[in-house]
Amino acid sequence: MVTKHYNWADDEEQDRLYYSSKQKENANGRFHWPAILRRSKAAPLLAAIIGIWLLTWWWMTSSSDHYVVPQLNWSRFAYSQYTTDTQSLCNALLVFESLVRLGSKADRVLLYPEEWTQKKDDRTAWLLQTAQQKYGVKLEPVQLLSAEITSESSKKWQKDKPGTLSDPTADWSLSITKLRVFDLVQYDRVLHLDSDITLLHHMDELFHLPKTPIAMPRAYWSDGPPSTWPLTSLIMLVEPNPNEVIAMMQTLHRWQKNPNYSMSKKYDMDLLNHRFAASALVLPHRPYTMLTAGFRSHNHSTYLGYHNGFDSDPRAKWDPDLAFKEAKLVHFSDWPLPKPWVMWNHESLSEIQPDCGGVNKGTCREREIWKGLYDDFRRRRKDVCKILSVPAPDWKEWKKSVGAGGKK
Ligand SMILES: *[C@@H]1O[C@H](CO)[C@@H](O)[C@H](O)[C@H]1NC(C)=O
Ligand SMILES: *[C@@H]1O[C@H](CO)[C@@H](O)[C@H](O)[C@H]1NC(C)=O
Ligand SMILES: *[C@@H]1O[C@H](CO)[C@@H](O)[C@H](O)[C@H]1NC(C)=O
Repeated sequence: MVTKHYNWADDEEQDRLYYSSKQKENANGRFHWPAILRRSKAAPLLAAIIGIWLLTWWWMTSSSDHYVVPQLNWSRFAYSQYTTDTQSLCNALLVFESLVRLGSKADRVLLYPEEWTQKKDDRTAWLLQTAQQKYGVKLEPVQLLSAEITSESSKKWQKDKPGTLSDPTADWSLSITKLRVFDLVQYDRVLHLDSDITLLHHMDELFHLPKTPIAMPRAYWSDGPPSTWPLTSLIMLVEPNPNEVIAMMQTLHRWQKNPNYSMSKKYDMDLLNHRFAASALVLPHRPYTMLTAGFRSHNHSTYLGYHNGFDSDPRAKWDPDLAFKEAKLVHFSDWPLPKPWVMWNHESLSEIQPDCGGVNKGTCREREIWKGLYDDFRRRRKDVCKILSVPAPDWKEWKKSVGAGGKK
């Protein structure tokens, strides 16, 4: 804990003393009515007129009916996606298709590897063209960012190659390429979403939020007390600033010189929390970031926001249909189950699917909604990208490969 022995009560006491001494000072320089008003008989009448006028003015300006939502120039705002291979390019396309279908008004921008401006395979070319022509996406070539350093001596960031469909970049270190969203200085605000998601509602209302360098939800699925939950980069509303990427890469470089720095595989989240934990506006994770795993959980208090809450509140009650209806974004997260573009086999499905409260026969709404999310993703992937799902891997081998092998 950083704020170990900091005493907030003391601090507030100091504030109170300060402001009460200020008040005394003001009282000494007391206000005096002009002599003419003190003597005049019209003074009470004048006071009443001014009073009524002030009251009317206050009523007119404070009434919520008179609050006008400011008009936004929608070409100053954008949703962004980034891609490092053909696989993630298709995911990005699905998000853009959803934004168009859901009636979002802001621009759509795709950050893609600059290498593709020189050379790309036919499918990649078709997907980029479809994004641009069918979904009005603005294409923005960028240099991929990687967390790997080629060698200690050269101190150069390794330049990674974009992947293809059959050979996707398994390299998680490329995920810090999402920081490039800070370079989109042609926009006032950019809303970046991860692409392994299903978007159920657009989020245009977030562009009306108070000015802030970044807004992100908490990673509410984290262990430990809520005060220690990091912010998640799954969804972030940023104000582009060209200095941020340079500064954050310098921070990463400094960290990597420390042999204790663990390969957390979450460089983008670590960097963003290091930089913005103290200043970010926190977005409500309900309903902006739901995990598919939520439908498998037996305890929903954290997602619902009723950690230490009172049970009688209707909003504290878990209802799978209401939760699904309310959620704006669902993130596919059912480790060790592969992401939705990979098919299931019977074994993996029966092991991971929502257990309907331990009843193995029949079904429940949780299981239907959860399966529906996966089915819907695969159908849209086929319809929008014209790509078939990746065949199911051998379940035992797969679990071993993702570190969930357990005992043999
Ligand atoms: C909206 O923003 C664009 C891009 O900055 C600008 O060209 C355009 O004039 C703006 N429109 C209005 C109505 O302000
Ligand atoms: C690394 O961790 C060890 C053990 O926790 C600690 O003694 C050491 O000071 C750390 N080194 C650095 C460079 O932080
Ligand atoms: C649900 O989880 C919360 C947060 O971890 C915990 O405080 C609460 O006791 C749990 N409720 C039940 C019924 O297990």
